[in-house]
Amino acid sequence: MEGIVFGKIEDIEGLIESLSPFKIAILTNSTVANLWLKEVLDALSDHSPIPIIIPDGEKYKDLETARYIWDRLYEIGFTRKSLLIGLGGGVVTDIAGFVASTYMRGTYLGLIPTTLLAQVDAAIGGKTGINFHGKNMIGTFYLPNFVLIDIRTLTTLPLVEVLNGMAEVIKYAVLDKEVYNILKGISTPKEAIESEELIRKSVAVKVRVVEEDLKESGKRRILNLGHTVGHAIEKLSNYKIKHGFAVSVGLVAAAKIGEELYGFDSEKVIELIKKFGLPLHNPFPPEKVVEAMKMDKKAWYGKIIFIIPIDIGNVSIEEVPEDLILKVLGEMRS
Ligand SMILES: NC(=O)c1ccc[n+]([C@@H]2O[C@H](COP(=O)([O-])OP(=O)(O)OC[C@H]3O[C@@H](n4cnc5c(N)ncnc54)[C@H](O)[C@@H]3O)[C@@H](O)[C@H]2O)c1
Repeated sequence: MEGIVFGKIEDIEGLIESLSPFKIAILTNSTVANLWLKEVLDALSDHSPIPIIIPDGEKYKDLETARYIWDRLYEIGFTRKSLLIGLGGGVVTDIAGFVASTYMRGTYLGLIPTTLLAQVDAAIGGKTGINFHGKNMIGTFYLPNFVLIDIRTLTTLPLVEVLNGMAEVIKYAVLDKEVYNILKGISTPKEAIESEELIRKSVAVKVRVVEEDLKESGKRRILNLGHTVGHAIEKLSNYKIKHGFAVSVGLVAAAKIGEELYGFDSEKVIELIKKFGLPLHNPFPPEKVVEAMKMDKKAWYGKIIFIIPIDIGNVSIEEVPEDLILKVLGEMRS
């Protein structure tokens, strides 16, 4: 996937040269604005970029905020040849993508993801969205013109947000031997966010999968490893359990199912999860988790499809018998 660059915010000028945008607006939230906006504004000072600041929080990833941004773009005379830059975590990159893809049927879009989750996942792959009745119910597929990953931005990230992204990195480690080997050599979350190689290779896994399947009809589903159970746990907790923490439990469930069906060594996953201090146990009655899984929008035609590790770097996509899921979730009960 072209346009994903590892570098420094101060080097952003080189990325926009070929676009030569008419106007530049920078969408960010109130938290990230205090930390990283000045650096972006300084780097683009020759272009008089206009900041658009939204409140911090998932609940603002909605139609009202999208409308606010569309209004602001209209007021400043934004055109299709103008550039909207999303600077922030996945909430900002998702809504920036959604607004850029819909305003005048599509403007230029650049993303500067500032959370680990956004760098390895949300900003990669072209999915945009806002919440509407349910999570990400309205959205588009729209590839940005560039994604600039500056890992220095992760130095201001609270530990809980680092861990939230680590679950996705562990997912990539199950999908890819190279990521697995790098992660085995890393001991702490801090070391992980200092490893550009780890983040680079994680991004490469997502890029490889997405390039083969942009609209999630087939292969892209392997990125759902850990998410079948993870989404159900998130939902049952009314989103009090953070995505990565729920996915972590989902990864353990998938690994244990892999052990039952294919003799996968689930300890390989459990060790990584323990090392980074993510949760291993299922906090809900197994029947409730299965019920919630059946409601998921990614449950195809009502079937519960699991991504199951056969070995590191090799997974199978298949329907799993309900009694096996209940057994594993029961064993994992906290
Ligand atoms: N489009 C996709 O493919 C995709 C994939 C995964 C997740 N997502 C979406 O991503 C969102 C979650 O993303 P997230 O976990 O990044 O959450 P987030 O955007 O809410 O960021 C988490 C918190 O970290 C703060 N923050 C961001 N960067 C910071 C920094 N450098 N220093 C200090 N604080 C910082 C934010 O202000 C926020 O409070 C969800 O809405 C989810 O649906 C999208």
